[in-house]
Amino acid sequence: ASTLGGAAAAKGRYFGAAVAAGHLGESPYAATLDTEFNAVTPENEMKWDAVERSRNSFTFGSADQIVGHAQGKGMKIRGHTLVWHSQLPGWVSGLNASDLRSAMNNHITKVMQHYQGKIYAWDVVNEAFQDGNSGARRSSPFQDKLGDGFIEEAFRTARAADPNAKLCYNDYNTDGQNAKSNAVYNMVKDFKARGVPIDCVGFQSHFNSQSPVPGDYQQNLQRFAALGVDVQITELDIEGSGSAQADNYRRVTQACLAVSRCTGITVWGIPDKYSWRASGTPLLFDDNYGKKPAYSAVLAALGGS
Ligand code: G3I
Repeated sequence: ASTLGGAAAAKGRYFGAAVAAGHLGESPYAATLDTEFNAVTPENEMKWDAVERSRNSFTFGSADQIVGHAQGKGMKIRGHTLVWHSQLPGWVSGLNASDLRSAMNNHITKVMQHYQGKIYAWDVVNEAFQDGNSGARRSSPFQDKLGDGFIEEAFRTARAADPNAKLCYNDYNTDGQNAKSNAVYNMVKDFKARGVPIDCVGFQSHFNSQSPVPGDYQQNLQRFAALGVDVQITELDIEGSGSAQADNYRRVTQACLAVSRCTGITVWGIPDKYSWRASGTPLLFDDNYGKKPAYSAVLAALGGS
């Protein structure tokens, strides 16, 4: 195959990109998306502040645009994200515990039901653990008012809302073995032991010189897969350029292919100019949608040419 999506499909996987609805009208953007990718993640359009800016009043316009586009091209869709401390409207953090619990469950239920049957996997809970060596939960309205049980409750609510979507926990700085990924690992192990519904773990994989591709990346994916969940690379971007960047992208791609339960890779944007990193060149396409050395390295690693 001569495209990322085609080559990934030949290996039984998807290759996706984070997409912003506002860029779909730019023809080279849409053309690159449609040619190269067979999965999408809305970059911001499904977040709480985008879909439920005021309580129980839902606005799905921009997210629907991406979902409609993706469905028209037969692409998989990752839903991102239901419960996250960031991009959370002010009214949510103002609620008392019992109102917050019902608001969280209502949000999960209404958003998942709106997209029922259309979403391959949902990031049910995003970034709930702290960085550093504590392995502790991150402070958030959910953690602070509902306690550790909020994650389990979110996953149980999500399963009831759309039994056909895969339910993922998604985080960053969990890409290698460290205190944070150990804490997530222990949570997933506990969920599997107690029958709490969880199907997948997302490894965001935002890499730069401070946070390089870990040496034990593949082993870390493998140990999660061994718990009986799928693993996915959900927000890949790697700072750098030229052959050094290409080598890192190749390693990440090879790691996913080496883990049978690694079902797909998503890069966090298409051309460098639309990366969330204000400066830098972390993606596979340059500002004119030219294919970078990193693109060729990924395509070759996937067995394409
Ligand atoms: O929508 C408003 C617009 O109305 C306003 O005029 C403009 C002015 O600042 O801001 C717009 O919102 C921005 C939004 O992206 C949509 O473009 C926010 O300021 C900006 O902070 C937001 O950034 C997003 C970031 O998440 C927020 O946390 C990035 O695009 C998005 O790539 C990034 O994605 C996250 C994942 O969801 C979770 N993992 C980390 C990853 C990278 O930070």
